[in-house]
Order: sequence, then C-alpha cells, then structure tokens
Amino acid sequence: MNAVELKNVSRVYDLGEIQVEVLRNVSIKIKKGEFVSIIGPSGSGKSTLLNMIGALDRPTTGEVLIHGKHISQFDDNELARLRGERIGFVFQLFNLIPRLDATENVKMPMWFQGRSSEDKAVKMLKEVGLGHRLKSKPSQLSGGERQRVSIARALANNPEIIVADEPTGALDSKTGEEIIKLLKKIHREGNTLILVTHDPKISKQAERIIKIKDGMVEGG
Ligand SMILES: Nc1ncnc2c1ncn2[C@@H]1O[C@H](COP(=O)(O)OP(=O)(O)OP(=O)(O)O)[C@@H](O)[C@H]1O
Ligand SMILES: [Mg+2]
Repeated sequence: MNAVELKNVSRVYDLGEIQVEVLRNVSIKIKKGEFVSIIGPSGSGKSTLLNMIGALDRPTTGEVLIHGKHISQFDDNELARLRGERIGFVFQLFNLIPRLDATENVKMPMWFQGRSSEDKAVKMLKEVGLGHRLKSKPSQLSGGERQRVSIARALANNPEIIVADEPTGALDSKTGEEIIKLLKKIHREGNTLILVTHDPKISKQAERIIKIKDGMVEGG
C-alpha cells in the first residue's frame, strides 16, 4: 500500500506576466511506513514537492493520491479534514503559536478535529521528553524544545504520515541530531516519514533518498 503517490505532477506558479514551472512531471511512490528523505539545491522545488505530498497544495496538472485516494476530487474542507486526520507537519521555524503554552499548542490540531484532549497533549509532550515544560510558552523554550513541541503537535491526531521540511534547519548540529533521533523513533513505531533536508548526514539515514533538481526528480 502506498502512503503517497504522485503521478506526472507539475506545479506552475502564475506570477501574472510570467509563469514559473516549479515541479515538472514528477512521479513518485512512497510506501506506508517508509522513511524517505528529499534533497536538492535551494530553490529546486523541495518545499513545493512536500506541500503536494502533504496535501497543503494541489498540482497544476497530474494526480496526487494519499492512501490510494485521489485528492483532486476533494474540496477544500475534505482536504483540510484529510490533512488533520492523516498528516502531521513539522517545519523549520516550528510555527508554534506564541501566546499559547506547550500543551495548548499541542491541543490545536485536536481542536480542529473536535476532540481536544488535555491528557493526550500531556502524553505526547512526555513522549518527546518535555513533561517538565508543559506550561512553557514558545519564547521560554530553546530551539530544540520548540521543535519537540511541534513534533508532539504533529503527532496529536495519530496522523500516520509525518512530513518535515528542514526540521533541523534552525538548530545546532547536536540538537538537530536529537530531533532526528526522535523522528526516527516515530518512524520505527510505524509512521511514514518524509523529510526534506540539506544535511547529507541526515538524508543518508533514510531508507531512500529522492533527489530533486530544477523541479525534476533525478533518476525518476
Ligand atoms: N508561492 C510562490 N509563488 C511563486 N513562486 C514560488 C512560490 N513558492 C515557491 N516559488 C518558487 O519556486 C521555486 C522552488 O521553491 P521551493 O520553496 O519549493 O524550493 P526549495 O527547494 O524548498 O528551496 P529551499 O532549499 O531554499 O527551501 C523557487 O524558485 C521559488 O522562488
Ligand atoms: Mg524549502
């Protein structure tokens, strides 16, 4: 079973006078439970590709299937529900809400699913090693701790697919390695992990590396 399949996907950004083709005819399959890293030069289309994989964006042409379902047939509400239930997002700059504490940040995606649970949020924070920081605001946390909160938030709805865009990009290498250890543990527990990184030390830890250049997958 594929977690994600892209079939001949292109993404064109319409800038008025010009159109920029950022992904060209990309076809990839990612199996359920796989750990894949995506590498490539800056501006090559990695984040654009990850946005397709995570159903944050739709292709201009081509098809995206998540767990075998064609998302092009989904309206925006259905797409939001799919993301909320199936996909956990981790970003380079954490994207936490500053005025909410760690527990409240982790509860956010559960609110959207209408099943907010304090117990679950606390459990997830303990799982990422932050049981002692439940009431801290993002500004009171280190970069590594902030990323742990964002990983706990990504896991709050038991998503199955985790997509992470440069999750260590804003961290020093030691803290980054701890975050990768945590993501690998989550992968071993059965989740599909798709990770964009610049760092070869990180990408080579994946089961498979997808190389992207000028919007095209190399060798694929
Ligand atoms: N919303 C947008 N509108 C127009 N062009 C965009 C948009 N988003 C990205 N692009 C362009 O698409 C190309 C690919 O961008 P993308 O963010 O996917 O690259 P990336 O590989 O993730 O780069 P980086 O490693 O720097 O994060 C870039 O040339 C960028 O300028
Ligand atoms: Mg990027």
